[in-house]
Amino acid sequence: MEKDVKEILFSEEVLREKVKQLGENITKDYCDKKLVLVGVLKGASVFLSDLIRHIKIPVKIDFIAVSSYGLTTESSGVVKIIKDLDDGIEDKHVLIVEDIIDTGLTLHYLCENLLSRKPKSLKICTLLDKPERRKIEILVDYKGFDIPDEFVVGYGIDYAESYRNLPYVGVLKREIYE
Ligand code: IMP
Ligand code: MG
Repeated sequence: MEKDVKEILFSEEVLREKVKQLGENITKDYCDKKLVLVGVLKGASVFLSDLIRHIKIPVKIDFIAVSSYGLTTESSGVVKIIKDLDDGIEDKHVLIVEDIIDTGLTLHYLCENLLSRKPKSLKICTLLDKPERRKIEILVDYKGFDIPDEFVVGYGIDYAESYRNLPYVGVLKREIYE
C-alpha cells in the first residue's frame, strides 16, 4: 500500500463490481435513449473510462473541467469552467459523471450551468458521496458509495494532483495535508 494512505476503503475488486452494477443500471434506464456522459475532469476520468465499458447502449462522452478556488482540501463554492464541453447538449440526455460529492457546491454550479443549455434531461452519477458534508441539496441519481467525512485519494481522485493512479480508494493520512 502507498505509504501516505492510512486505510483502503474500496479495493480494486470492490470498485470493479460497483462500477459494473452502475453501468448495468444506466444501460437499463437509458435503453431507448441517446446518452451523453459528461465527465468532470480530472477526478472522474478513471471512473468514467471504466464505467463506459459497462454501458451497453450507444453513448457519447464529453468532458468539462472546473476549478474551485480556495483551500486545498475544501471547496469554496466559487467555481470556474477551465475547459468547457466540446459539443452542445441542447435536447440531449446528459449524465454528469463525478468522482466525489462533498459540499455539493461544485455540482450545484455545474448543474445550473448545464441546465441553462436546455438538455432533454440531466442526471448525476457519482462514485463517492460524503452526505454529512453537504451544504446544498443535490439529487444524486446513481451513486457508488457513501463515505465518512475523510479525505480520500486514488482511482482518479487526487490530493494536490498526486495519488490519482492508485487502483483503490484510500484515506489519506492527515499529516500529509495538515
Ligand atoms: P464540493 O464542491 O465540495 O462538492 O467538492 C467537489 C470536489 O472536491 C470533488 O469533485 C473533488 O474534486 C474534491 N473533493 C472533495 N472531497 C474530496 C476528497 O476526499 N478527496 C479528493 N478530492 C475531494
Ligand atoms: Mg471532481
